[in-house]
Amino acid sequence: MLKFLAQKNNEQTQQKSQAKVIALMNQKGGVGKTTMAYNVAHALNSTGKKVLCLDMDPQFNFSMLFGQEQSDSNIHHLLINSIRELKSLHSPILISDVLVKSKTGIDLIPAGQELSGFELSVAGINAPRQLILKKFLEKNNLLERYDYIVIDGPPTLGLLVVNILCACHGVLFPFIPDSFSEQGLKNIRNVLLDIEDMGIVETPKILGYIPNLYEGRRKKAKEDFEHIRNEFNDGEVFSPFLNRAHFARSMASKKSVFDYEAQDFKDLQLQFLQVVNSVQNQLEN
Ligand SMILES: Nc1ncnc2c1ncn2[C@@H]1O[C@H](COP(=O)(O)OP(=O)(O)O)[C@@H](O)[C@H]1O
Ligand SMILES: [Mg+2]
Repeated sequence: MLKFLAQKNNEQTQQKSQAKVIALMNQKGGVGKTTMAYNVAHALNSTGKKVLCLDMDPQFNFSMLFGQEQSDSNIHHLLINSIRELKSLHSPILISDVLVKSKTGIDLIPAGQELSGFELSVAGINAPRQLILKKFLEKNNLLERYDYIVIDGPPTLGLLVVNILCACHGVLFPFIPDSFSEQGLKNIRNVLLDIEDMGIVETPKILGYIPNLYEGRRKKAKEDFEHIRNEFNDGEVFSPFLNRAHFARSMASKKSVFDYEAQDFKDLQLQFLQVVNSVQNQLEN
């Protein structure tokens, strides 16, 4: 009995030390994926979580928020090096060469423009191309080293997106509540259905939709928002983030709403804490 309890306890601690992987995704650009990823990471960190930010967008905006520039060692090289068939063709690279560590408990694996050629780079391999990122995270013990891995996704629908969705436990969809957003959201949900059909990994949970850049005073924006809210009823729809100039300014100065010196950021902080509270409830319980 004791042995059984010890084993169960051990299993529980092992389960606890597995990072939850979440991704901010939308096929459209300019909807706030990077902004939300950065602030969600800081919100998680403010609740005591150790967070790894993973930039999977060739435009590397997420990395730039951490002060990074285009470099010769980024996630693209790590992923290519993690594939046995391609390894010998490239110079070796270690995670420690790429990982940007911070004292605050938020680390970063930066992206680079080479990522836009990822699909082509892995076109000829025999290993399952959809699972490269998932296997990379597992093989390098990254899941044991962090509580959360927050992925910023690219504004596309290709192999990178499939890799992200196969590697994550849950997805958040930032979107601008207008009539153009609907199709983008539908498209990416179809990719989720494809992953379900493939049956090789557990389909990530839809953690919620984050309406952003909302112009609540405009009648049309209100109507579009209501329409989308009714349409996407397979996940929580969070309260909308308004279009606010000083929010954009905090991003331009590479500060999260938790670090930016402005009195009226309390409500924005609260909004992000509500999002991470819901994420934690959905993934940790
Ligand atoms: N709620 C908001 N209010 C004002 N500006 C915002 C808001 N959300 C995002 N932005 C700005 O909009 C632009 C696009 O956001 P970004 O996060 O880069 O989108 P994506 O990653 O989807 O392309 C950025 O300049 C960002 O600072
Ligand atoms: Mg972005």
